[in-house]
Amino acid sequence: MPRIAVTGAAGQIAYNLLFSLANGAVFKDEPLSLFLCDLPAFEQQLNALAMELEDCAFPNLKEVEFGSDPFKLFERVDYAILLGAKPRTAGMERGDLLKENGKIFVKQGQALNEVASKQVKVLVVGNPCNTNCLIAQHHAPSLPKKNFHAMMRLDQNRAIALLAKKAKCSVSDVSRLVVWGNHSATQVPDFTNARIRNRAASEVIREKSWLQVEFTETIRQRGTMIIHARGKSSAASAAHSVIESLRSLIHPTPEGDFFTSGVNSDENPYGIEKDLIFGFPCRSFGNGEYEIVSGLPLDYFIREKIAVTQEELITERECVREWL
Ligand code: NAD
Ligand code: LMR
Repeated sequence: MPRIAVTGAAGQIAYNLLFSLANGAVFKDEPLSLFLCDLPAFEQQLNALAMELEDCAFPNLKEVEFGSDPFKLFERVDYAILLGAKPRTAGMERGDLLKENGKIFVKQGQALNEVASKQVKVLVVGNPCNTNCLIAQHHAPSLPKKNFHAMMRLDQNRAIALLAKKAKCSVSDVSRLVVWGNHSATQVPDFTNARIRNRAASEVIREKSWLQVEFTETIRQRGTMIIHARGKSSAASAAHSVIESLRSLIHPTPEGDFFTSGVNSDENPYGIEKDLIFGFPCRSFGNGEYEIVSGLPLDYFIREKIAVTQEELITERECVREWL
């Protein structure tokens, strides 16, 4: 029976996530327990959330606990979804949140280290998610580094949706889409390795400048565009990406395909600096075990851009050195 902790549980992503999670969107036909964590001031909202979850009478939701102490709520959890962090507002980059949000992940990493299952899979969503994830991972030395993920699935989904729209095909016709690097404005949505109906995306969409400039910049700026349009950062699409990130981890990846996750770079086959949480193409064996897919060819355009996003992650790591 999976035990799942969710931080930031009183926030907007959580409200879009918890009901489908409790209703089996990830763990189909499996009983599960939810442990909801937010700041002490949000206790009343968590209580209301627990009441609403109960009122749904989800057959497989066996237990809901809530509070503000990760050392209690993370006890023996199998999955920890770390949403709890401030979102950016218009005019900010995600990296601007580093000083404010980074310290949250020190305590949460320590709590995971002490009380979570030793196989816990951790998905960091709170921004800047790659470097927050690195902080949590550093404070959980008894857990495998591989089990820490920063959510880059929303970037992957955005890129797939845009390629499908341009090629006038179904999103399910698009495969092998990796977004390299940081979940930020330097991310590298890789159209060069993507496939549309099993052909190279660049053979189907023959406008090189659209792919290099418009596609790349639209995906990089999509989060900002959402903030401008709705006055708040994305929530429903982010919640859906949490569901898909978990599904991709617990189900074997179809032969020949991969998914994007921000994972530890120590043993990556692409020469990326060690000790970063970097968006890589991943293939799951099921049950949360995965490998970074090796051998993707990288042309000059993509390599140059990967160097920039890598540099940004190194700079972010320097900014939070005191917490590592
Ligand atoms: P929100 O402000 O609606 O909710 C955040 C919640 O976190 C609040 O309830 C707050 O009280 C709580 N929180 C703050 N510190 C906490 C702590 N120490 N422990 C537990 N809870 C704590 O924000 P949201 O829209 O739900 O977004 C959450 C985070 O996810 C933001 O940082 C946002 O930028 C990020 N985000 C990431 C992606 C992605 O693709 N990686 C996508 C969307 C949003
Ligand atoms: C997103 O990509 O939508 C989130 O990271 C929120 C943001 O700050 O853009």
